[in-house]
Amino acid sequence: RLLIIDFGSQVTQLIARRLRELSVYCEIHPYQSVDDAFLADFAPKAVILSGGPDSVTREGSPRAPQSLFDLGMPVLGICYGQQTMMTQLGGKVVSGEGTAEFGRAYVTPEGSLDLLEGWFEDDKEQVWMSHGDHVSEIAPGFEVFGTSPNAPFAITADVSRQFYAVQFHPEVHHTPNGSKLYENFIKLAGFTGDWTMGAYREQAIEAIRQQVGDKKVICALSGGVDSSVAAALLHEAIGSQLTCVFVDHGLLRLNEAEEVLSMFRDHMNLQVIHAEEQELFLGELEGQSDPETKRKIIGKLFIDVFQKYANEIEGAEFLAQGTLYPDVIESVSFSGGPSVTIKSHHNVGGLPEKMGLKLVEPLRELFKDEVRALGVELGLPASFIGRHPFPGPGLAIRCPGEITREKLEILRKADAVYIDQIRKHGLYDEIWQAFVAILPVRTVGVMGDGRTYDYACALRAVTSVDGMTADYYPFSHEFLGETATRIINEVQGINRVTYDITSKPPGTIEWE
Ligand code: XMP
Repeated sequence: RLLIIDFGSQVTQLIARRLRELSVYCEIHPYQSVDDAFLADFAPKAVILSGGPDSVTREGSPRAPQSLFDLGMPVLGICYGQQTMMTQLGGKVVSGEGTAEFGRAYVTPEGSLDLLEGWFEDDKEQVWMSHGDHVSEIAPGFEVFGTSPNAPFAITADVSRQFYAVQFHPEVHHTPNGSKLYENFIKLAGFTGDWTMGAYREQAIEAIRQQVGDKKVICALSGGVDSSVAAALLHEAIGSQLTCVFVDHGLLRLNEAEEVLSMFRDHMNLQVIHAEEQELFLGELEGQSDPETKRKIIGKLFIDVFQKYANEIEGAEFLAQGTLYPDVIESVSFSGGPSVTIKSHHNVGGLPEKMGLKLVEPLRELFKDEVRALGVELGLPASFIGRHPFPGPGLAIRCPGEITREKLEILRKADAVYIDQIRKHGLYDEIWQAFVAILPVRTVGVMGDGRTYDYACALRAVTSVDGMTADYYPFSHEFLGETATRIINEVQGINRVTYDITSKPPGTIEWE
């Protein structure tokens, strides 16, 4: 196995992800916990030193254990990892004016190196730099294999000892062929690449059992991919020690509650409490038209309801959440690791603190597509795993202004027709998220020989990678025309259909 020593870079998890893509098993450990005894016990086959926010020129800044360099194994240092490696092996690093380099840069090769095999397609390669300091003198035994305008030692290596050092970040998207370096590194370290998502599942199950022991766990199941995969994984790990609560706020899509319950109760055999609180939510929302007020009401009630049901489960000590790695990196530093906090975390409204529960977050090392792969591995149907995201406040934010039962019913039907159209035309998987919003206006129409005065609706469909930015989906006019006709014919209460072509930014994906 491979050891990644984490010096606190925001992208350390991406290194792990690149290695998983290459079917290599690795573990990330913060530098504070890696000492000689740890190394002896872990017995890595190779080590990667991550980037980090500190400066090696600062006294007391993080270091790798010196013994690492005497163990005779391949070591790859990245950014800060490169700099501490140089310093520890007798080179020099300087900071100050003229040493920084942020963003895109181009590296030019010098000589040939096994780590770089097949990497340089032209005489230079695009890389992503993010460093304040740079190496001014390489350590004895090292040679230069690549330079960039601001980093004369962009790629160096001590070939005889299999020590490699790069100033840039091969793991990020903006180093387009960076995976090739990892591929070469694991090959020269002797990995065969036989690790799979199945193996990850076994490990994750073992880790849950270790953490939870014989205690009980509760989980808020929303039917979304993250909470579903987390619940399925926990169920496999601890079986009946897990109870899920499915909060039904009356703002779900057509047949959604039935589908989620049948999937988890009948198909997966989980214990799921159906918290039927539609009346409570819709009652409290009556007469409310301000978007923030609506969201706050739903958020608060969700916590109250979840707490009420959870209190009935005696002896629960843990709360499971489907937190993913991108949520972690945006909010808190990784596993008590050394990275800088970017934003304070707002996990389900501070539930764990309020209820005195400990957290189990079995997906916190994974990215969305890896969670999907794990879900399939756990036996969740691919169609379920591939569903579009659905927001916590549900249809409330797709019904601008005041919510009424009538509007919700119309919205559910229109949404079902729209999604059916998208599926029939084979477009579902190309679209990141699609839904109907019912507008708070009635418009005049003519149907048959009569005048109608019904609601207008807006169709929304976007492409996106992570929901942070999005563009509207370019449906054909035929598709839009056919869908509008179907909705007006099949859904009583709607007589006008529009298509929302706003991108994000400046718009948001949802209407509220
Ligand atoms: P916006 O509308 O902010 O949405 O562009 C981006 C993504 O987030 C989802 N979304 C939410 N998800 N609780 C959630 O769980 C929320 O309050 C919420 N608001 C928006 C939205 O569906 C889209 O995928």
